[in-house]
Amino acid sequence: MNTSESVGAGPGYQRGELTVHTEPAELAKVTRALRASGRRVHLVPTMGALHRGHLELIRRARQDVNAVVVVSVFVNPLQFGEGEDFGRYPRTFDADVQACRDEGVELVLAPTAETMYGPDPQITVHAGEAGSVLEGAHRPGHFDGMLTVVLKLFNIVRPDLALFGEKDYQQLVLIRRMARELNLDVAVQGIPTIRESDGLALSSRNAYLDEEQRRSALGLSAALVAGAHAGPGGAEAVLREASNVLAAEPEVQVDYLELRGTELGPAPDGGEARLLVAARVGPSRLIDNALVVLGGDESGS
Ligand code: PAF
Repeated sequence: MNTSESVGAGPGYQRGELTVHTEPAELAKVTRALRASGRRVHLVPTMGALHRGHLELIRRARQDVNAVVVVSVFVNPLQFGEGEDFGRYPRTFDADVQACRDEGVELVLAPTAETMYGPDPQITVHAGEAGSVLEGAHRPGHFDGMLTVVLKLFNIVRPDLALFGEKDYQQLVLIRRMARELNLDVAVQGIPTIRESDGLALSSRNAYLDEEQRRSALGLSAALVAGAHAGPGGAEAVLREASNVLAAEPEVQVDYLELRGTELGPAPDGGEARLLVAARVGPSRLIDNALVVLGGDESGS
């Protein structure tokens, strides 16, 4: 597939054109050559099924006109547990490539499990304590698999900047932590969640919802809004108001609703905190989160 002519970065890259690479080693050669020639490299890791949330990450990545943007499209088997939706996760590769082309992306990395992991992978990243709460408590091993593939992507692409959506807030916190603790030479940028006009956070898993389930799913963002409004009344008020909204949606089966510090430790007494929710709605498991500012209202209402 690496048919582009050599333009300053060896084969596999042509400025202004989109080239798809399935071999990580080939893409690695291209991004190293581009960096050596003075270009910055920005990475948007995805599992495909691109929606407006991903396009926003790409647009932010392109804001630096000197940057070449790499989008990875890989449904990573390592971050799906038994009984999860790996098999039916939406795969829309041709449309994804077209969307990347329309957005001016120049490099797409679309490895197979074989080209990504090789025949007998043994070594993984361990997400530690922060990876065992919230999503980690419901999806054991998920964050180990996610961090492993993200570390591999960082090592393949060697980006200056990698962009991730805040919708997967715990994922973002863990990636930042991995970058810090493992001394990775990459800046990690979080981008606010993109929502439908009625508040539903964009997610590839929304595709599984029928009309009625989609209506019920609005309970998640509505709960976050109610919780955030209750911030001045303190943590108890936040959780009470958010829980009331979720309780009114019988089709929403809540896995957790938790208020935590911005780094996912215990919620502070005052100031910025994060309200996080996960729930099953019909065939989908959905997550969402919001910033909450605690305190400031002495009446505690
Ligand atoms: O957020 C995702 O789509 C995935 O978890 C990621 C970061 C691409 C790793 O597979």
